[in-house]
Amino acid sequence: MSSESKSLRWGIIGLGKISNQFVRDLKLIEEVEIVACASRSVSNAINFAGIHEIGKSYGSYQELFEDEEVDIVYIGTTHNSHMNLSIEAMKNGKHVLCEKPLAINQKDVQTMVDVSRENNVFLMEAFWARFNPTIRAVLNQVKNKSIGEVNYVNVDFTFSRNDADESRMLNMELAGGALMDMGVYPVFLAYLIFGKPEQILATSRMHTTGVDLQTSAIFKYENGLANLMTGFVSQSDMMAKIYGTEGRIYIHPVWHESEGYTLIKGNKGDVNGYEEKVYTLPKLGKGYTYEIEECKKCIAQNKIESDLWSHQNSLDLMEITDEIRSQIGLKYPFED
Ligand SMILES: NC(=O)c1ccc[n+]([C@@H]2O[C@H](COP(=O)([O-])OP(=O)(O)OC[C@H]3O[C@@H](n4cnc5c(N)ncnc54)[C@H](OP(=O)(O)O)[C@@H]3O)[C@@H](O)[C@H]2O)c1
Repeated sequence: MSSESKSLRWGIIGLGKISNQFVRDLKLIEEVEIVACASRSVSNAINFAGIHEIGKSYGSYQELFEDEEVDIVYIGTTHNSHMNLSIEAMKNGKHVLCEKPLAINQKDVQTMVDVSRENNVFLMEAFWARFNPTIRAVLNQVKNKSIGEVNYVNVDFTFSRNDADESRMLNMELAGGALMDMGVYPVFLAYLIFGKPEQILATSRMHTTGVDLQTSAIFKYENGLANLMTGFVSQSDMMAKIYGTEGRIYIHPVWHESEGYTLIKGNKGDVNGYEEKVYTLPKLGKGYTYEIEECKKCIAQNKIESDLWSHQNSLDLMEITDEIRSQIGLKYPFED
């Protein structure tokens, strides 16, 4: 943040689908400015700047990293590039909000965390679900034992898609695959509720390009189990279910960007009664607004990480996906 401006000045790189959605939410937040955007293509940058009324557009990411008016860079590029681009931004003194997954593996996330510490700049994985009001409320219900001891989570994240083999979803060079693109969300929810699993059993159906098309995993904890599923080939209701000794919580579809949940105790007809309560928690914008506010708050407090989605949380998430990838045999061509 500059001494004259009390606004946090954002630069956006990688001007694809998600960046378009993200900047719409950025505009809903006070004391925030979008000062520049950058693409690998000048025409794409000019077009994006025109649509979103952004003052400066660059035909290379490096130019944006060197722009002294940018305080924080949002990285909306393909998975394979997250580490190097985040590091380059941080070495230029920028704070970074980088799309999920923060990198390809835990070793790379550790390298990024080291650079954040060395340069004293804020770094956060854009795990927007962590800041969603419904997810936060559900976590509180779990912590307050509203449904007793939680011992089972059943969560998926699947779409039926028809992507071309070259698309970032199915492309090994871009670190594609269901797990890294969508499977990180079920991993996130299980981790949020239970922490790191004691044991992981994972299996996949692989696509001809080498990425996983469908992946299922069972996580075992001292006091519970989680069943996870992700993939590019099935339609799902996208409801997450959390079960405890005294009840259950259904996070309404689409669960990772939800606007409410249902808490149920007992079964209909039970002699001990049946309770069902529906909670509605409307979002601001698409829901990226909450991670944007978190960046603003942390940076104003000179913090280099969020307490809600910390560097350690990103490291743990990657440790879990590393283990799943090792079990399903998914190694990207550019990995050691
Ligand atoms: N949080 C969410 O809700 C959410 C939703 C969807 C995706 N995501 C994440 O956001 C990131 C981008 O996803 P997306 O759906 O926006 O993808 P996308 O539409 O394909 O955009 C990705 C952008 O990355 C840039 N890029 C850099 N190197 C590239 C390369 N070698 N090949 C292709 N593109 C390259 C391109 O921007 P330029 O051409 O402008 O340089 C491209 O437009 C991923 O990390 C994904 O997991 C998050």
